[in-house]
Amino acid sequence: MKLFIDTGSVAEVEEIAAWGVLSGATTNPTLLAKEPGDPAEIIARICELVDGPVSAEVVSDETEGMVTEGRALAGLHRHVVVKVPFSEAGLAATRELASDGIRVNMTLVFSAAQALLAAEAGATYVSCFMGRLDDIAVDAGAVLEEIVEALGPDREAQVLAASLRHPMHAVTAARLGCEVATAPGKVLRAMLAHPLTDQGIERFAADWRSRPEFGEWLQGLVAQGAATAGTR
Ligand code: G3P
Repeated sequence: MKLFIDTGSVAEVEEIAAWGVLSGATTNPTLLAKEPGDPAEIIARICELVDGPVSAEVVSDETEGMVTEGRALAGLHRHVVVKVPFSEAGLAATRELASDGIRVNMTLVFSAAQALLAAEAGATYVSCFMGRLDDIAVDAGAVLEEIVEALGPDREAQVLAASLRHPMHAVTAARLGCEVATAPGKVLRAMLAHPLTDQGIERFAADWRSRPEFGEWLQGLVAQGAATAGTR
């Protein structure tokens, strides 16, 4: 499963792209509205940083407006994927944008029935919002499982788990066979954390320090490697 970052913050993308785990990003009007600066520049910079698909969302509520906005957004950068909210108008816009060769991320999908329609309209990504389902006491894992099963193993549309609130949402999405999960920086940072990892690193460092001659040996080895690389 690919991991995307769900944010409008260039600084956050810079920080987490440096880990080497991001394949793309998703934004939405709410996330971009929190950021100072020009949205076009933000989207283009995020495209460069993740070097992969970056969703940018249309805001019109009728087909023609969605298509016009979608074409304009797609023109910002070759990595832009047009995010279109689920609706009758959104389905028609998806069909038209997909016919132009523009990739669409159909968002706000909350059921397998909606996912089937989004896939048929030609969406490249079908985004199911896990956190918002859990918020209303609907089992997000069960809905996602239905979507994955309904679209089948040979699906062309990729199932994108969105609205992740904690690391277990990402694990559930991966176990169910979703192609992508998009997570906010907070959730990606939480995925790093484990107390046994911290304890283990401390223990290794302390044990190594107990043998100072080992430290000298490693420094020598590093210097030797650097010298050899210099003569190449
Ligand atoms: O980008 C769409 C989605 O991930 C939003 O999540 O936390 O606003 O429900 P949230």
